[in-house]
Parts: sequence; C-alpha cells; structure tokens
Amino acid sequence: MSDLVQLTKIDGIAVVTINNPPVNALSAAVSKGIADAVAQIEKDDTVIAVVFIGAGRTFIAGADIKEFGELTSGKIICRESLKPLLVRIEDLRVPVVMAIHGTAFGGGLELAMAGHYRIALPSAQVGQPEVKLGIIPGAAGTQRLPRLAGVAKAVEMCAEGAPVKAEDALKCGILDRLVEGDLLAAALALAREVLAKPAAKTRERNEKLGAPDRNAAIFAAARETARKKQRGLLAPLAAIDAVEAATTLPFEQGCQKEEELFTKCLFSDQSKALIHAFFGEREVAKIPDVPKETPTRGVNSVGIVGAGTMGGGIAMVFANAGIPVLLKETDQAALDRGLANIQKNYANSVKRGRFTQQYVEERRKLIWPTLDYGEFAGVDMVVEAVFESMALKKEVFGQLDRVCKPGAVLATNTSSLDIDEIASATGRPQSVIGTHFFSPANVMRLLEIVRGASTSKEVIATCMQLSKKLGKVGVLVGNCMGFVGNRMFGPYRREAQFLVEEGASVEAVDTALYDFGMAMGPLATGDLAGLDVGWRIRKEFRHLQKPGIRQPLIEDRLCESGRFGQKTGAGWYKYDENRKSSPDPQVADLIRQWTSEGGIAQREISAEEIVDRCIYTLVNEGARLLEEGIALRAVDIDIIYLNGYGFPAYRGGPMWYADTVGLKKVCERIREFQQRLGIWWEPAPLLQRLAEKGKTFAEFSSRQSAAT
Ligand code: 3HC
Ligand code: NAI
Repeated sequence: MSDLVQLTKIDGIAVVTINNPPVNALSAAVSKGIADAVAQIEKDDTVIAVVFIGAGRTFIAGADIKEFGELTSGKIICRESLKPLLVRIEDLRVPVVMAIHGTAFGGGLELAMAGHYRIALPSAQVGQPEVKLGIIPGAAGTQRLPRLAGVAKAVEMCAEGAPVKAEDALKCGILDRLVEGDLLAAALALAREVLAKPAAKTRERNEKLGAPDRNAAIFAAARETARKKQRGLLAPLAAIDAVEAATTLPFEQGCQKEEELFTKCLFSDQSKALIHAFFGEREVAKIPDVPKETPTRGVNSVGIVGAGTMGGGIAMVFANAGIPVLLKETDQAALDRGLANIQKNYANSVKRGRFTQQYVEERRKLIWPTLDYGEFAGVDMVVEAVFESMALKKEVFGQLDRVCKPGAVLATNTSSLDIDEIASATGRPQSVIGTHFFSPANVMRLLEIVRGASTSKEVIATCMQLSKKLGKVGVLVGNCMGFVGNRMFGPYRREAQFLVEEGASVEAVDTALYDFGMAMGPLATGDLAGLDVGWRIRKEFRHLQKPGIRQPLIEDRLCESGRFGQKTGAGWYKYDENRKSSPDPQVADLIRQWTSEGGIAQREISAEEIVDRCIYTLVNEGARLLEEGIALRAVDIDIIYLNGYGFPAYRGGPMWYADTVGLKKVCERIREFQQRLGIWWEPAPLLQRLAEKGKTFAEFSSRQSAAT
C-alpha cells in the first residue's frame, strides 16, 4: 500500500483514505494505491462495507493534470485507464459509500459515481470540469453521470464544466444524502444502514437515460449553445457526443466511444493550450524574488479616489469581496453620478440573475461616499482612479502621503503613466504600486500589478494575495509605458489600422481576428473602449514620434470628425440606440479618400495576412517585454492576454501560440513583413535568438525563473 492511499478497518468497514495533498489528484500512483486497496478488500471476507474518503481539504479534484502534459509531450508513453478499476469497485460484493467534502471533480466524481452511495457535506461541490482543459471525462463520467443525474443535467455538466453545489447535486440524484459535521462518522453510519440493501450499480441504472426524441432535442440545443458560448472549442461538442453515446449504446460500447473522443481531445493543440493556461494561472502567482513566506499587510478597508468609470467599478470589486470602501470625488455632483452608476450596475446584475437583491443591498452598504481626504486616515489601502494626467496623479499622491497612515498601500490605476514618477510625489515610494484593473473592473478578471523601482516586496505580496481575494488573476509586471498588456496592444491595433489603410475592409480585419478566436476584432474593440482615449494619449506624446516613420492616420481623423466609437454612435462602425453595430459606407468612403490623399497603394489582403500581422506584432512586442524583464515569463504575458484582452484560451495566449507555430516560422514571417513594411517589423532580438537555436519562449522563461 502506498502512503498516498491508506486502508484501515473500523468495525468491519474498510476505509480507503486518499491522501495526496493539496487536492488529492488521482495520479498514477494514487490509482495504483486504490487498486491495491481494492485487491485487499476483494480478498477479505470479513469486510462488510467500504467507505472512500479524502484526507485534508478535499475528496479528489480530478486526475493529475500534470500527467496529461507528460503523456502528450511523450515524457510518459502510457497512462493506465481508470475505467476497469472503477468497474471493480462497482462490482465489490459489499456496499461502497463515497464520502465527499471539498470537491469531487473530474476523475474524482467518476470514482464517486462508481460507488453505490454518495454522502457529502453541504459545502461540497461536484463537477466534470474537463472541458475547461480541452478534454472530456475519460473514466466513464459521460456514461455514469446521465444514469444518475439524467441526460439534460449530464450534458450541461460535461459540456460546460461548471461546478454543481451539493444541494443541487442531491436534487438531481448525483448525491444520496447531505450531512453536517463528522463526515466519516456519517459515512460509516450510512454504510451500516445499507448493509442489508442490495447495492445498485450505477452502470446498470438505465431508468434516467430518457427517450430518443426528447434526448434529440436536448443534444441539438446543447450543440447550439456550445457553438455559440464556447466558440471554436472542440471538447464541448465531443462531450455532448459522448453523453449521447450513453443513450444509444450499451455501457461498455459507450465507454469505448468516450475513450476515442477523450484521446482525440487530449492530443489536440487545444487541450495542450488550455492545460498551459490552467497551470499558467497558478504560475503567475509565484514571483521568484517574492517568496510565499513574504509578510503581507492586511487590507480590511480601502479608499478610492475618483468615482468615474474605473473608480466605481473598483469600488464594486472591493465591496463584492466584503471590504468596506470610502469613495472620494471632487464634488457632490460627481459623487452622485458615480454612486448612481454603481447602483445601475448592481441593478443590472440583479436583472441578469448574477446577484440577488439582498446581496446587492448588503454590498452597496459597504460603499461610503466622501469628499474629504481626511477620512482616508484609517484605511489600509487607497486605489487612485482619477483622470490619466501625471500632474493630477502627483497632486493626489501628495495628498495621500499627508493623510494616510504609515503602512497603507498606495495604489494607482494608471494605464500608462510612470509609477516611479507618481511615487516620487510621496515620501514613501516603497508603499506605492500600480493596480491596473481592466474595464469593466467588476467583470474583467485581469489585474496587472505594477512594480515600481522602490515598491517593497511586502506591498507586492499584499497585492498579489489581495487579487485572489478580489476574484482576480493578479499578474506582476514591470514599470514601462503601457506595462505589458497595453504596450503590446498598441502595435496590434496599429497593424489593424495599417491593414485597413492598405485595402482590407474594416469588417474583413475584424472578422479575420474574430475567426482566429479573439472575443472581438481590434477595430470594434477600439469603438467599445472609445477611440478618443488613444487619440488624446497620441496627442500628448506626439512630440516623441520619430519623423519619417509611418503612423496610422485613420483613427485620428475619425476622432477629429467626432467619431469616438460606441459612445458617440459612430466610430469604425455606426451604432443604433442599442449599440448594435453595422458597417458604415461613409467610413469606407472616408478611408478611400484619406488613403488616396496619403498616397497609400491599395491591394487585396488575405485573412491569413491580417491574422499574421496582428498576432505576430503582439508576439514581437511580447518578446521585447520578456527580454527587458517587464514580463517575468512568457506565461505571464499569456495569462494577461487570456484574461484581459479576449485572446482565445484554446490557443494558450500569444507566446504559447507562437511556440506552437514554431519561432523559426514566426521570425521568418516577421522578416518578410520587415522587408515589405519597414521599421515597425524589426524582429525582437530574443525572438531571433530563440528562432535560430530552435528554442521556445517557454524554455527561455523556465531558464530565467531557475536563474533567479
Ligand atoms: N492535477 C494536478 N494538480 C492539480 C490539480 C489536478 N487535477 N488540481 C489542482 N492542482 C494543483 C494546482 O496546480 C496547484 O498547484 P500549485 O500549488 O503548485 O500551484 C494546487 O493543486 C492547488 O490548486 P489551486 O491553487 O487551484 O487551489 P484552489 O483551492 O484555488 O482550487 C480546485 C482547488 C478547485 C480543485 C482547483 O485546483 C481545480 O479546479 N482543479 C482542477 C480540477 C479539474 O480540472 N479536474 C479535472 C481533471 S481532468 C480529469 O479528471 C480527467 C478524468 O476524467 C480522467
Ligand atoms: P473617468 O474620467 O471616468 O473618471 C475619473 C474620475 O476622477 C472623475 O469622476 C473625476 O471627477 C474624478 N477625479 C478627478 N480628480 C479627482 C480628485 N482630485 N479627487 C477625486 N476624484 C477626482 O476616468 P476612468 O476611465 O475611470 O479612468 C481613471 C483611471 O483609470 C485613469 O488613470 C485611466 O487611465 C485608468 N484606466 C482606465 C480604463 C478605462 O477603460 N476607462 C482601463 C484601465 C485603466
């Protein structure tokens, strides 16, 4: 018996305890441990029942995802299927009770379903989240789940991957009983209670498998939803096919179908990318020079300066995490406007069913308006979200320095300005940091945490920890104009505009990138964010532009003619009163006129060129950020793009995507663009070096991390 799985006996009941911290992942070794325990139970005539339980914080969070990576990369050649082991458990001659706390996810739920009874704490959750990793359940989950929960619920769980709370799982038949308190004692009691009852094997329970015509409608609706809501993803459709097989084929054949689909998904590029994203999200929390043990400061109250678009959203983020907020404005009218927007946003969330009225009222009470900096004296942290002006930000930080208590974290939400210069307005630059929320702040998961030259490790650790509490993915970046996300986004949007100037239509550019998987095309994104934002910044920095270098001309002209995007009803597109876009022939005419005045030759441009130019310019800038150390690792850039810029998760982020294409190929294409289009396309030195050596960004990053 391995250390990972212990077999004990309590009054004739065999207790199998899985103990593989932190989440009891079902690794090959754990499966082997369970198989050994089952073998002993099979041989032991004195065993009257069996209980499976997880040690530590959870039951089993699923198969060991690391092993999938090792399998697809060829590091290991074979991974034994769990399926036969689950059949052996189901076939045990004594009742088997699965005792669930924490999470029974993926292979964990599949194991639980092979038991005869399932008992859980009310706080437990169950789920088949495999689709989020680009795979489907691979240990008969798609075959046993519809037999317990019915076809509609099984399709939803396997295709969407969302966790199901214990109470709902009880209602739909996945669980048999909920208990408070001592789970093991309750499981033992249940085992004793069912000793005389013949154990029902899940795989033989066919009564919930439904009728063909009703099932056909369920599958058709699920496929339509998957195509819409999980655009471009293969796994949800495969999961639906597998559940469908449960309704048309005997159990064993259904399992074979599941196996075929599972293997196809597992070896797909999508699954590799999604697994990269899963581990990436956890990797970014690890900062080489800010170890886990770094002390943090408690953040139990915050002040926010500015109740505009971002300040209001950020106030909601803190309130939603239960942290009281003092929200400051310059005058009562601005404060009232900000509070009204917050109220409107909360009301919309209630309307859409995201929050209950009671929840919203409780959160709303945590936001306290003020016009007085004096009230910030006691807060643990301040987030400044005033207009993007260095002079104003310095004035605000000067005030904060005067009123805030020693040790308060002073954060700025600037999207482009120099953190060190802002910090210089205080006598405590070690407490100053950037917390760059994305719009809408209460929705977007990304939080770029910007480290200034003097920011203390304690303040960094505090903000990284806080990001989790706020439900955000915090990524630490260095201080430069635009940090990581926006510095890369600039060239991306610039190329999109150049392509339009050279003859691609506005719709062709957006469609090509939407079809690549981006949540929105770059020009439509500009309209959404407001074209005037970039226009104002460009005007501010125009003096820095080098003469003779091509600059995009159309967006500035659109702004000069009052077309700021959605907010003015017109930008690259025109918008109706519901902000629904349609192509604007007037824009096409203007573009023709302006490009002809500018002497820009027009030509046919393929979707492939559109995608390569927009995406490779992201990659090229990403390579510079990586070499400069502004981004810690390539995966940090990927996580920023997946969570803040609508990059398709199944492509793993721009740097992962480039690694998949092959850096040699990417570099050659960039050189081709350089010859044709000039200076903007100079390949980043790091990209050239890695391409020459046949290496990847991921390899460069792991070497860097190891070195620090
Ligand atoms: N395999 C390997 N490692 C895992 C893992 C898994 N299934 N689940 C979590 N981990 C690791 C994480 O990488 C992290 O490692 P780190 O500390 O070195 O960074 C550690 O466990 C803790 O994880 P979290 O930081 O995510 O902890 P949380 O408490 O925030 O969340 C969780 C716990 C909800 C269980 C979350 O980790 C999760 O959702 N895990 C993945 C669940 C999943 O997708 N299961 C299906 C796997 S595929 C499968 O089962 C196929 C089957 O059908 C054959
Ligand atoms: P906004 O114009 O909507 O709001 C700014 C608010 O600050 C206004 O309500 C103004 O009255 C208030 N203000 C100005 N001076 C003040 C002072 N001294 N005390 C208190 N309040 C004051 O601006 P927005 O869009 O919210 O931007 C705020 C910051 O967030 C900027 O630095 C911006 O670059 C950044 N940002 C903006 C994003 C966006 O999409 N809008 C995204 C990410 C960052």
